[in-house]
Amino acid sequence: MIRPIFSALALICLSLPAQAETFEKVKVDAGAELFETACKRCHSVDADKASYGPLLNGVVGRKAGTKDGYPYSEALENAGFVWTPGALRAWMEDNDAFVPGTKMRHVGIEDPTVQDFIVSYLTTLH
Ligand code: HEC
Repeated sequence: MIRPIFSALALICLSLPAQAETFEKVKVDAGAELFETACKRCHSVDADKASYGPLLNGVVGRKAGTKDGYPYSEALENAGFVWTPGALRAWMEDNDAFVPGTKMRHVGIEDPTVQDFIVSYLTTLH
């Protein structure tokens, strides 16, 4: 009587991490596509390629305005915060309000799901 319940529980426990991983992968893939349309024309993720905006590899956990060699606006250079997922979401939603004086053109991504997917993708860039 108890056995089938344990087997079912064991199966569920075994499959949960796999499902979580799959979901994260779906988010990263979706984020990569969204990044391609919304960000990539200005932001390279290839260290050997110059782009109009700063390189975003390793941006999660990096202090704002500190990527070596990039000519940031004074506003971003002096902003003094670290890019967390929350800061990135606020930036995507309204970058001019988040850092007044930034030279990044307003992107205005208000959908939290889209923000979340793009953050998932950015987290994978080292
Ligand atoms: C029209 C060009 C353009 C687009 C599109 C664009 N950016 Fe930017 N981005 C810039 C520029 C220019 C800067 C530098 C801003 C400054 O110095 O004030 C910047 C800065 C940033 C920074 C700060 C990086 C650092 O090193 O502190 C982040 C994060 C960022 N952008 C993320 C994004 C994301 C995510 C998208 C897409 C949703 C995006 N950007 C779309 C031009 C763009």
